[in-house]
Amino acid sequence: MSSAHYQALEPQTSDEDNEDIEQRRPKQQQHHHYHLRNHSGSTTTACSLATPVMARKGRRRCLLPLVGGVLFFIAFCYLTLSVDTRLALGLGGGSDDSDDEGSHNDLDRNNFRPLNETVHICSESYEDRRQFMQDKPNSEYGQLPVIYFVTPTYPRREQIPELTRLAHTLLHVPRLHWLVADDQQKCNDFIDTLLNRFGIPFTHMVSPMPAKFRFADPAPRGVANRRAALRWLRQHNLTNGVLYFGDDDNTYDLRLFSEIRKTQRVSMFPVGLIADYAISGPVVRKGKVVAFLDSWVAGRRWPVDMAGFAVSLEYMAQYPNVNMPYKPGYEEDLFLRSINVRMDEIEPRGNNCTEVLVWHTQTKSKKLGVVRLESKYLDDRSNLGALLRNLELMGVATITESESRTAQISKNGKAKPHSVILS
Ligand SMILES: *[C@@H]1O[C@H](CO)[C@@H](O)[C@H](O)[C@H]1NC(C)=O
Repeated sequence: MSSAHYQALEPQTSDEDNEDIEQRRPKQQQHHHYHLRNHSGSTTTACSLATPVMARKGRRRCLLPLVGGVLFFIAFCYLTLSVDTRLALGLGGGSDDSDDEGSHNDLDRNNFRPLNETVHICSESYEDRRQFMQDKPNSEYGQLPVIYFVTPTYPRREQIPELTRLAHTLLHVPRLHWLVADDQQKCNDFIDTLLNRFGIPFTHMVSPMPAKFRFADPAPRGVANRRAALRWLRQHNLTNGVLYFGDDDNTYDLRLFSEIRKTQRVSMFPVGLIADYAISGPVVRKGKVVAFLDSWVAGRRWPVDMAGFAVSLEYMAQYPNVNMPYKPGYEEDLFLRSINVRMDEIEPRGNNCTEVLVWHTQTKSKKLGVVRLESKYLDDRSNLGALLRNLELMGVATITESESRTAQISKNGKAKPHSVILS
C-alpha cells in the first residue's frame, strides 16, 4: 500500500568517514599526522630527484630517512589507534574518568565505525492524524518538543503483536515521531500498513545487522537499527526535541513521556524487571544522581538499560561523533560516553527516581506456528486462506501441505476431515 517510495538515504562517502575520524583526533595528533605526511613526502621527492650518477650515494642517503620514516610510521599508527579508541570510548572527556580508565581496552575499533550501514526508508509520514490525546485536542499540544521514539524491531512471531500493543500506548502521546527500524533487508508492507493506520507520525526503515555480526554470540541486536535512527536524526539536522530508545517489548507508563519531554541534556530513571534485582536505575541523593543500582556492572560507567534514559537533541548535536558500538552489553554505556555526559548533569526523573515508569517486560520467543492444510482449501470458500496468509505475512505462522500433523478442525467437540468442512 503505502510502501511505494523506497528511497535510500544518501550513502556516506568514505571521505566523510575519514573526516569523522579526523575530527575525533585532538589537535596534537592532527599535527603529527600532518608532520608525518610532510616528512615521508619530502623523502620520496629527494630520492626520486637523484640523478643516475648520484644513485648509489642517493640510495644510502635515502635508506636512513626511509628507516626513520617506517619507524615513525609504526609509532604513529600505534599512537593514533590508541587515541582513536580512547576517544571513541569517550574516555577523553568527562570529569570522573580516573576510576575506570583502561576498561574496554579490548574494544574492536570496527565496532565503532561511523554510522554508515545500509538504511532504507520504507515509508514515512509527518502528518499527525490523531484528533484527541488524553482528553485534549491535538492542537493544544503544538508547543511541546517532539519526542523521537526509536524502536528497533526484528522479524519473529511476536513482532506484529508487540508493535500493535506499543502503538496503542503511543497513540496517547502527543508530539511524538515514531522511528521504527526493522532488522531485515526488505521492507515489510504489513508494517507500513499497520503504522499508517494509527495516524502517529512515523518513519519505517529497514536497517539489517551487518552480516559479520549475525552469527556472533551474543549478537549485537538492535544496534544497526538504533544507529540507523541516529543517522536519520543527524541527516534531518534535528536540534530540537528528545531522543528515547523504546524497545517494542517494554511497558511504558504515560507519565514517562511528560517526564522525558523536559530533558535538558540527559535524563535518567529506573527501569523495572531488569536482571537479578528486577530493577536498574540511578541512586539519587539530594536531587542528584550519585551512583547506580544494577546487578551487572562489568566496568560500565553508565550501568543503565536502553530504556532508562532520554537525551535532548540540542545537547546531542554538540557531539557529531555520537555513536553506538556493536558491543553487546555495552551499547548504553558507550553511547552515553560518546556524548560526554557528566554524572552531575544527569536529570533524575520519576519523582527523583522513586517511581518505575517503564518496565522491561519481555515476551518469550517461540518458534513459528505450523498449520498443515491443503492449498486447495486456501481459497475464499472460508476465512482460513486469508487468515493464514495474514499470519504468514506477519511472520507468526507458516502454512504447509506436508510437514507436521494435519491441522485439527473440529465441530461439536470432534475433529472433522478438512473436506467435510471446507469443500
Ligand atoms: C528531588 O529532590 C530534591 C532534593 O531533595 C528536591 O528539591 C526536589 O524537589 C525533588 N524533586 C522531585 C520531583 O520530587
